Amino acid sequence: MKVIVDTPEGIAKQAAAIYKEILADKPNAVLGFATGSTPLDLYAELIRLYEAGEISFKDVTTFNLDEYVGLEPTHDQSYRYFMDTNLFNHIDLDPANTHVPSGLDTSDEALAAYDAAIEAAGGEDLHILGIGVNGHIAFNKPGDPIDTMTHVVELTQNTREVNARFFDSIDDVPTHAVTMGIKSIMHARKIILIALGEAKADAIKAAVEGPVDPACPASVLQLHPDVTFFCDEGAASKLSL
Ligand code: F6R
Repeated sequence: MKVIVDTPEGIAKQAAAIYKEILADKPNAVLGFATGSTPLDLYAELIRLYEAGEISFKDVTTFNLDEYVGLEPTHDQSYRYFMDTNLFNHIDLDPANTHVPSGLDTSDEALAAYDAAIEAAGGEDLHILGIGVNGHIAFNKPGDPIDTMTHVVELTQNTREVNARFFDSIDDVPTHAVTMGIKSIMHARKIILIALGEAKADAIKAAVEGPVDPACPASVLQLHPDVTFFCDEGAASKLSL
């Protein structure tokens, strides 16, 4: 595991450079994406590199981590909508090659088909992750089993309250989500996790320096052969680097 400390702008540039290198090597790479506020600077940088003619996503296939159950893809709080508006609509990616778990069909067949589609595409070359203040990755929360593939989770009251600001009322916040499991994420050949802000410092310390323990889902990444944590000073402030 590598830990790199930089400014948020520097992290976006360094992470984007990794995409550029992978795409130069393999124009039809399979990329795993995340939503949330953390990757937004990176996505803006990827759009900038595309507009500058430095990278192309023409032959790329993408898979996202998660989606709320019950939201139409066009709902402005769906993760599909987030990806379309913050990245996909601004680059030369073929929409047919983008995958976000369905929040509408959560049958066992649909969940298994998501992991099967990743495998059929050849597996992910790179997956980007954020991290929750409690160490969650995707919607895999502390204490959840770590050998899971794509599955449905019930959202905690706390998660629903935190997300209520994006909806008209807490009653509109979905109660469940579909998420790639830790095992599906660990299959990616390369993983980048970005953490910004002091609120993430405890989670980063547990993930990087704590034991591998389901109590901090991100700590499982220590077992991955090629993972880089990009942290700003706040997020890295509790590390004994
Ligand atoms: C997003 C996701 C979440 C976020 C995490 C951090 O697809 O799965 O695990 O990465 O909650 O969120 P932000 O970046 O908003 O702090």
